[in-house]
Amino acid sequence: MRVVGEPVESVAGAVTLQVGNTSAAPIAIPMPQSVKVAALSDVAPGGRLSIIVDELPALLLRVGDDLYCIEDVCTHDGQPLTDGPVADCAIECPRHGARFDLRTGKAIRMPATEPVRTFPVSVRNGDVFVDVD
Ligand code: FES
Repeated sequence: MRVVGEPVESVAGAVTLQVGNTSAAPIAIPMPQSVKVAALSDVAPGGRLSIIVDELPALLLRVGDDLYCIEDVCTHDGQPLTDGPVADCAIECPRHGARFDLRTGKAIRMPATEPVRTFPVSVRNGDVFVDVD
């Protein structure tokens, strides 16, 4: 469904739109918040950093020139992925060997079948930001 309207109010993490009939209740549409999580220099090339995002343990990884942020909890049985080996843009759970694509969070090897949450990452003025819904 396409929503057309004018922003009438902006609050942290949401934009409220007034659509059509102005006597109708406005629709609040959640917007991602960009949160500074580290300085780029905190994550060496090939390195990783444990952070908290949206009150969740998360892992910021620097692979080549790219940064990825994933929830740091394996969806198979809750093992932190913190120390899991990374290869081919995927991280392996150190407990039972499930693998997750760092770009999408998709589980690409059993025993995990559910994806891990991923967060968009950007770098501005030497600082790393993560978008949170
Ligand atoms: S806890 Fe990660 S594969 Fe089992």
